[in-house]
Amino acid sequence: MNQISDPLIIFTPSGKRGHFPVGTPLLDAARELGVYVESVCGGRGICGRCQVEPQFGQFAKHGITSAAESVSEWSPKEARFVEKRGDLKEGRRLSCSATVQGPMVVEIPADATVSQQSIRKAADTRDIHRNPAIQMCYVDVEEPDMHKPLGDLDRLKVALETEWGFEDLLVSQHLIADVQKILRKGEWSVTAAIHQDLESSRPTLVSLWPGLKNEAFGISCDIGSTTIAMNLTSLLSGRVLATAGTSNPQIRFGEDVMSRVSYVMMNPDGREKLTNVLREALNELVGTVCAEAGITGDDILDCVFVGNPIMHHLFLGIDPTELGGAPFALAVSGAVHTWASELDLNVNEGARVYVLPCIAGHVGADAAAATLCEAPQAADEMTLLVDVGTNAEIVLGHKGRTLACSSPTGPAFEGAEISSGQRAAPGAIERVRIDPVTLEPRIRVIGAEMWSDEEGFAEAVKDIGVTGICGSGIIEVVAEMFLAGIVLQDGTVDGGKAANSPRIIEDKRTFSYKLWQAEGGPAITVSQGDIRAIQMAKAALYAGVKLLLDKHGTDRVAKVSLAGAFGTFIDPKYALVLGLVPDCEIENVKAVGNAAGTGARMALLNRNHRREIESTVREIEKIETAIEPRFQEHFINATAFPNKVDAFPRLEAEVTLPKPVVSNATTDGASGGRRRGGRRRV
Ligand code: FES
Repeated sequence: MNQISDPLIIFTPSGKRGHFPVGTPLLDAARELGVYVESVCGGRGICGRCQVEPQFGQFAKHGITSAAESVSEWSPKEARFVEKRGDLKEGRRLSCSATVQGPMVVEIPADATVSQQSIRKAADTRDIHRNPAIQMCYVDVEEPDMHKPLGDLDRLKVALETEWGFEDLLVSQHLIADVQKILRKGEWSVTAAIHQDLESSRPTLVSLWPGLKNEAFGISCDIGSTTIAMNLTSLLSGRVLATAGTSNPQIRFGEDVMSRVSYVMMNPDGREKLTNVLREALNELVGTVCAEAGITGDDILDCVFVGNPIMHHLFLGIDPTELGGAPFALAVSGAVHTWASELDLNVNEGARVYVLPCIAGHVGADAAAATLCEAPQAADEMTLLVDVGTNAEIVLGHKGRTLACSSPTGPAFEGAEISSGQRAAPGAIERVRIDPVTLEPRIRVIGAEMWSDEEGFAEAVKDIGVTGICGSGIIEVVAEMFLAGIVLQDGTVDGGKAANSPRIIEDKRTFSYKLWQAEGGPAITVSQGDIRAIQMAKAALYAGVKLLLDKHGTDRVAKVSLAGAFGTFIDPKYALVLGLVPDCEIENVKAVGNAAGTGARMALLNRNHRREIESTVREIEKIETAIEPRFQEHFINATAFPNKVDAFPRLEAEVTLPKPVVSNATTDGASGGRRRGGRRRV
């Protein structure tokens, strides 16, 4: 091969390319081009984190031929690594050892750059390129010398500057007392964890281990008012090792966030109590994820938290009283960088915490994380992101302009304040279909993976029972009642149907629909009050969305992302039937899973994502629904079913719209019996 002095090297999948002198280690070439390749041992060939896969053959796309001789021969360093570790996959090379010899395509293996988590929720399958705020750095430190009076810690700092380029290093106070012991235990070879979030900030030595420490972990956590979800992720491979969730224990002080603010206002030690129970729950989750992954809290070096403004404040130990009323002033809206020890977290003593910025007084760090994940601000077309809890957090925009607001939907969408409502748990009705002719329902229950008219249903629910209706169930039953003509456009349960179906029951001066009743058990009904609660919630959500559409001067969206538990389980068709979201092509209405949790993990694994969301949040225009006069107008206009009738042409292929009911229809008696007449395709 004719040797070219500075051959072209192309890294895939990024496609980044550059010319490098023969003899350049591939690791150096990657770094120069900004291609992220991990290295803990600083090129000593002992950590194995820097693996790459040179590709050989003709690459017409890139216009080069990558020959086997384009990369240096197998080195003694690599041979020693294989001998000691024995885990270098075929075709892989240590980029700190393999050097450039000719033009070459070099693949960065997916397991070296991105998270490989692939779980059920679509949003969680995304690849997150790593560039964490924590770097693990193995160094050899000069041994003490009576003629050189430099202290042990100072010589460690010199080594970290010489070998890793960290100038002006800060040292976490807790390490100062231990540094001598650790250096001697490691026989002057140690691994330092360096935290540097902002590239302009001073790097900090946050932890130190004797010898090689070839792993580092982080947690990302979404603190919801109802549930808390935590992931444990390897900062070096990006893999999620454990996931855990729990109920927010603050519920015992108040079901929704405003009642918790009231508790703080009325009790002198209220804030402290709410903060303490929350941090205790977080520490329990830390214990759970660590046990599952077989590590200890000491291995966790970085933590990212998101939550709505009130959860955010209580977690940080801030009194949320100001968020209880206009002008809904946040104590701090920007991102918070602090030490885990300040927040009583049972993780490494030097671990850092990053809390995403809040967008506004009612649009929190959870919405910021969901925005980071779904990126409406980077979309070409108008994109709506909705995360519904007790408040709906709404972000609407595209590349040019993004707006956000929150809307007081109340807890009805979560099954609360509904007569037969309950949390999503085994026994809860989550899916409903109603025959428009017989008015007989079919249901699906969490924990029994079948419809009620399928064989074996009675057996499947024998132990769990059918106990109530959860959030997605209530949306479906109300939409189905509307489609079956049981509920009229103004939301009234049509008592005129009582003559045709025993399921329409008189209930004082109104009517209810009996959805289910097991033999000898209580009836699970949908009352007029339940319909009204859903009407109020959906009108509040729609009014918030409409307000943002008005500000944008449009009434159409190209894409709708439904986030959170609400978005995960709601069928987009029913969101359109009820008019929860504006008219949109049905295939563009998507459940995006726990977008806030994914956004938190993105910020954990890549500090560029932190800068990205900080700048996005600064640019988002915040709209306060409480002071917008048109909000009330939109709210009133949105209470009817459906508030936007022209949504229906899009749905005709999917659902059968209400038709006159055949008056002499008969039912087949048993609850949930198989229907007669046409079956909907919903
Ligand atoms: Fe550690 Fe290459 S950097 S083995």
